[in-house]
Amino acid sequence: MSGLRLGSLEVPTPVVLAPMAGITNAAYRRLCAEHGAGLYVCEMITSRGLVEGDETTRRMLVFDEAEKVRSVQLYGTDPVYVGEATRILCEEYAVAHVDLNFGCPVPKVTRKGGGGALPWKRNLLGRILEEAVAAAAPYDVPVTMKTRKGLDDDHPTFLDAGRIAQETGVAAIALHGRTVAQAYSGQADWAAIAELVDHVDIPVLGNGDIWEAADALRMIEQTGAAGVVVGRGCLGRPWLFRDLAAAFSDDGPGATTLPTLGEVAAMMRRHAELLCEHMGEERGCKEFRKHVTWYLKGFRAGGELRRTLGLVDSLAALDRMLADLDPAEPFPATELGAPRGRQGAPRHKVVLPEGWLDDTDGLAGAGVLEDVDETTGG
Ligand SMILES: Cc1cc2nc3c(=O)[nH]c(=O)nc-3n(C[C@H](O)[C@H](O)[C@H](O)COP(=O)(O)O)c2cc1C
Repeated sequence: MSGLRLGSLEVPTPVVLAPMAGITNAAYRRLCAEHGAGLYVCEMITSRGLVEGDETTRRMLVFDEAEKVRSVQLYGTDPVYVGEATRILCEEYAVAHVDLNFGCPVPKVTRKGGGGALPWKRNLLGRILEEAVAAAAPYDVPVTMKTRKGLDDDHPTFLDAGRIAQETGVAAIALHGRTVAQAYSGQADWAAIAELVDHVDIPVLGNGDIWEAADALRMIEQTGAAGVVVGRGCLGRPWLFRDLAAAFSDDGPGATTLPTLGEVAAMMRRHAELLCEHMGEERGCKEFRKHVTWYLKGFRAGGELRRTLGLVDSLAALDRMLADLDPAEPFPATELGAPRGRQGAPRHKVVLPEGWLDDTDGLAGAGVLEDVDETTGG
C-alpha cells in the first residue's frame, strides 16, 4: 500500500488523525505522532474567528515544535471569510494542509446551514471551495473537505459534494459514512465510501468506525479508498497509530499493541505533560481530565481512583495517583474492536434554517453562521 498524495503533500502512511474539537490540540497530535505516522489535523478553527483575530481562535492555533507538517481544519459558511482564513493559515501559520468542515451534525451549527447542512446548497459549497483553493494555491497548499453522506437518507449530498470538490480543485474528500441525522449512532456505511470512490477521480478518504488497524485495512480493501481518517478509535489509545503505521508498512500488520496498565499510565503521564507544556500546568491538567475514562476503559482500576484522576490538578498529584494503578494488569481484551467515545442516538429531524430544503442552489446562508465557536465541532 502506497502513501497518500494530497496535491503536493506526500503523506507516507495513508492515515489521518480526524479533527476532533477539544481533543486534537498540539499536545494530542504530538502524542499520536510519537507513536506512529500519518497526518494529524488540528481541531476545528472558525474562519471568522481567525479573520477577526479572535483571541480564543488564535490561541488554538498552536503547533508543537516537532510538528513539521501543520494541518488545520477550518469551519465556515461564507466564501469570503473562508478564503481569507485560508490565506492567513498559509501566510501567517505556514500550514501545509487545510481541511474544510462540512460534516458537523451539531444542531447549533446545522440550524444556520453550517457543517453537515451546507453541502445541500451546491452553489454555496462550490463557492466556498473555490475561494479556499484559490487562496491556498499561491502557497501550494492542498485543500481537502470532510463531509457526511447527507442530511438524512432522503437527502444525500456526498456524490454531488465529491463532484463539486473535484471540479473546484480540492485535493481529496473525506467521507464519514453517516448522515447528519445519524450523528454518531448506528454503523458507518462503508458502501457509500466505495460509491464515492467510483464517482470521483480525486482521492477519497474513508472515515467511520475504525477501532483497530485491521479495520483500516478492511476499509481500504472494501472501498478502494486512498486512505483512512481515524477519530474515536484513538481516544485514550494513541498507540493505535503505531498499529496503523505497521499495518500500512511494507512488512504488513504486526501484532496488536496491548499495553499493560503500567504502560498506559506512562502514556497518560506523557499526554498530561504535553498538555501542561502547551497550556500551563493548571489548564493542561484540567484538559487531561476528560481523557482519563478513555485511557482506563476496561481496566479494573477502582471507582475512587478514577474519580480522583478525573479531578487531577497538578502533575505531582497525577504521579501519585498513577502510582496506585497495578502496572502489571494486562490490557483488557474486551476493549479490542469495541466502539469508544461518542455514540448517542440518531436525531428524528435535522435542524435546518427555514426553507433550507426548498432548493439546492441558493446562496442563502452565506455568512449567517460565522459566529459559531470552536467547541461545537463534530
Ligand atoms: C469529540 C469529537 C469531536 C469532533 N470534532 C470534529 C470536528 O471539529 N470536525 C470534524 O470534521 N469532525 C469532528 N468529529 C468527527 C470525527 O472527525 C469523525 O468524523 C467521526 O468521529 C467518525 O470517525 P470515527 O468513527 O473514526 O470516530 C468529532 C468527533 C468527536 C468524537
